[in-house]
Amino acid sequence: MKLFLDTAVTEEIKKAAAMGIIHGVTTNPTLVARAGHKDYQALVKEIAGILPEGSPISVETVAEDVKTMVADGKRFFEWAPDNVVVKLPTNAAGLEATRELAKDGIQVNMTLCFSVNQALLAAHAGAAYVSPFVGRLDDIGHDGMALVQDIVAMLKTYELETWVIAASIRHPLHCVESMKAGAQVATVPYKILEQMLKHPLTDKGIEAFMEDWKKSGASNE
Ligand code: E4P
Repeated sequence: MKLFLDTAVTEEIKKAAAMGIIHGVTTNPTLVARAGHKDYQALVKEIAGILPEGSPISVETVAEDVKTMVADGKRFFEWAPDNVVVKLPTNAAGLEATRELAKDGIQVNMTLCFSVNQALLAAHAGAAYVSPFVGRLDDIGHDGMALVQDIVAMLKTYELETWVIAASIRHPLHCVESMKAGAQVATVPYKILEQMLKHPLTDKGIEAFMEDWKKSGASNE
């Protein structure tokens, strides 16, 4: 399973990219606003410069009609043609715009997906990615991860090539469950990435090795 970083904070992207552990970035209007960016184009270009060549960056429109969605998508694509994946909502306008952009070879990530039916429609429209929102479903008492499992199984059954991005990830166990479900990608906030790495026994082990080494008086020169 590949990992995307779900953030618009470039310092976080730099830190994760330096460790070589992320394969792309997803942004959305809330994340961009929260990070205080005023210039989306400059942000996307900066992210493209941080990530390895060709890494996908999801760039989301706030347009509501097909024409503007398609125009936005084409504009976003020009910002970084090797990276930009246009993020569109899973609704009627989003499907039509996805079809248009896909015809031009522009990849689309259909976001705010909350059902297997929506994922099937996204795949038929030509979406490169579909993003089921796990945490937001859990929040209203549904089983978000069951949706990821069902979408992965459905796409496999019908040999559809759309990749599943497990999104709205709230804790490290969501990542483990996404792997078990067979999602191609999980997009995770930086805090979750840190939690994935951290283990008290790793820290304790490092401490003990250092102590023992110091006590032994041995050299590795
Ligand atoms: C995915 O692409 C979205 O940006 C994100 O995962 C939404 O997560 P949230 O439900 O925590 O806002």
